[in-house]
Amino acid sequence: MPLRLEPIHRVHRPLLAGFQNHHTSLVDYLKRYALRHTEKDYLARTYLAIDVDAETPRLAGYFSLATVSVERVAVAGLLALDRLPRFPIPGVLLARLAVDTRVQGQGLGRYLFEEALGLTLQLAHAGPVAFRLFVTDALDAAAVRFYEHFGLASLATDFPCRMVLDLRPFLIGGAESAQSAP
Ligand SMILES: CC(C)(COP(=O)(O)OP(=O)(O)OC[C@H]1O[C@@H](n2cnc3c(N)ncnc32)[C@H](O)[C@@H]1OP(=O)(O)O)[C@@H](O)C(=O)NCCC(=O)NCCS
Repeated sequence: MPLRLEPIHRVHRPLLAGFQNHHTSLVDYLKRYALRHTEKDYLARTYLAIDVDAETPRLAGYFSLATVSVERVAVAGLLALDRLPRFPIPGVLLARLAVDTRVQGQGLGRYLFEEALGLTLQLAHAGPVAFRLFVTDALDAAAVRFYEHFGLASLATDFPCRMVLDLRPFLIGGAESAQSAP
């Protein structure tokens, strides 16, 4: 399915109406808050994956990114993070991710996840601000399994279940090479 990833804009309003997902909170967020949060309130930025193959473009899925701070005590079970000093750990929050029910199971969830992580790493590599974690709050057990697939670790057993990915393995080398640059 040929897809175009676009930051949400008011021109997309007609596309939002037809979106379907079994989590009504994810549908409501998209229809009621995603545009406002992106354009007016600066609380999160939403990206749309638009299926441009259909006769009229259709919304296949979306994700939203924001920032987050994770209490140091919450990651005590994760070895690499447990070595850090006792400060809250900054991260990028994958605040929402959803695929339209009619096109699930075709690789779109993976595409959205990888795009969200890619944007996050782009920001991390750009360098003006530091953060260590990629964080999400999985809504149910299926979502936990989905994110485990990509290496995220659960910090809780109830729902929504906070999950984190340590970004350090993606980043090591960057700071050292920046410092040694002429
Ligand atoms: C979770 C969700 C985003 C997955 O989207 P999808 O398009 O069906 O997923 P994909 O087809 O891209 O699957 C990606 C990979 O995850 C795996 N996967 C997907 N759902 C899974 C599940 N419930 N349990 C285990 N693995 C799962 C797939 O097997 C696939 O593996 P592969 O790439 O190695 O073959 C989608 O089902 C959805 O919108 N769910 C409701 C909203 C939600 O839970 N969002 C996340 C929490 S906020």
